[in-house]
Order: sequence, then structure tokens, then C-alpha cells
Amino acid sequence: MTRIIFSSIINDFKNAIDISSHPFRHFTLATSDIDGNPRMRTVVLRKIDEMLNLTIYTDKRSKKITHISKDNSVSLLFSDTERSLQVSLLAKAEIITNDKILQSMWRQVPKKLKKEYTSQVLLEKETKNTASIDYLERKHSFSVITLSPYHIEYLRLKRPDHTRVLFKKENNSWRSTYFTS
Ligand SMILES: Cc1cc2nc3c(=O)[nH]c(=O)nc-3n(C[C@H](O)[C@H](O)[C@H](O)COP(=O)(O)O)c2cc1C
Repeated sequence: MTRIIFSSIINDFKNAIDISSHPFRHFTLATSDIDGNPRMRTVVLRKIDEMLNLTIYTDKRSKKITHISKDNSVSLLFSDTERSLQVSLLAKAEIITNDKILQSMWRQVPKKLKKEYTSQVLLEKETKNTASIDYLERKHSFSVITLSPYHIEYLRLKRPDHTRVLFKKENNSWRSTYFTS
């Protein structure tokens, strides 16, 4: 049963990447600020792998970058009110600094979205000569964060029995505990 639930979580995340209206497309990411206060914001899920590592794009100048640089413990909340479902995760965040990886991810960013991370001057230059400007020449603020979960709580409120499953990552595999009420 917990295997099926784990697969359903992965499927939901995968679908959220492909389907813009999926309820898991946007989620709440919480970090701790420099005084230890919780700070939350909405972000878009961009990628996921089989170990449930999640990727988001952000602006290098955002507060979450400062927070994560100091404390990389984060929490994530996905919810789908239609299905009375929530999935909350504890994760370790990593800011990607490797230029080759950033460059390859930048290539996958849709042009429309690229504008959000690129200064106006460069955008004007880009429209004149798109092909010749590559990632390394840009003065942009594109940044990528990967989130590696180690604790997941799945909760589905459904009569007659609510379902709650905890997944914990131990030695690179997931152990589960099933609760019903
Ligand atoms: C619908 C929606 C989607 C958003 N998606 C992202 C996103 O993918 N990445 C991001 O950094 N900020 C995103 N934001 C903006 C954040 O919520 C937040 O305002 C911004 O990242 C600055 O937060 P920070 O300075 O606390 O890091 C989104 C906001 C909304 C309303």
C-alpha cells in the first residue's frame, strides 16, 4: 500500500511539471531567515528525479538564497484541496553553482521565462542577436536550487478512513509507516 502511495506522490510531482494547472505545480517553500524565523513563499516545481529530488528556479538575489546559504534545512508543502490531500516534506537544499550545469539548465528555460532573470539592456541586445549570446555572456540572475527530501508526510482526508503515511529516507532508500484513522 505505501509503495502505491509513494508512486502516486512521484506521479503527482511528474504531472505537475508537465501540466501547468496541476495543483502540485506550485508549492510553499519555507526557509529560516538569519534570525531563525520561518519564511515562506510560493515557487514552481521544475524537475524531479526518481529519488524525489526536486528542482526550482529562482533569482540569485532572492532572500531564499541568503537563507539557504546559511541554513540549508527547508520544508515544502504541496496541497490539493479537491482531493483533500497534502504532502509535506523536510529537505536539504543545495544552490547549484556549477556553471556547466547552470548553463545546460538555462538552455532548457523557455524564452518567456528567461526574461524574468535577465536585465532589460541584455534583453534588448538579445532580440537583435539571439543566437550569439550564450549563458556565460549574460548578466543574469538565474539560479537553481535542488531540494533533497529526507522526510515526507502524506495525508489524505477521506471518509471513512483518513490515510497518513510517513516516509523516511535511510541509507538512500525510503522506509514507510502507515497510519489510518
Ligand atoms: C504563482 C507564483 C509562482 C512563483 N514561482 C516562483 C519560482 O518558481 N521561483 C521563485 O524564486 N519565486 C517564485 N515566486 C515568487 C516567490 O513567491 C517570492 O516572492 C520570491 O521568490 C522572493 O522570495 P524570497 O525573497 O523570500 O526568496 C512565485 C510567486 C507566485 C505568486
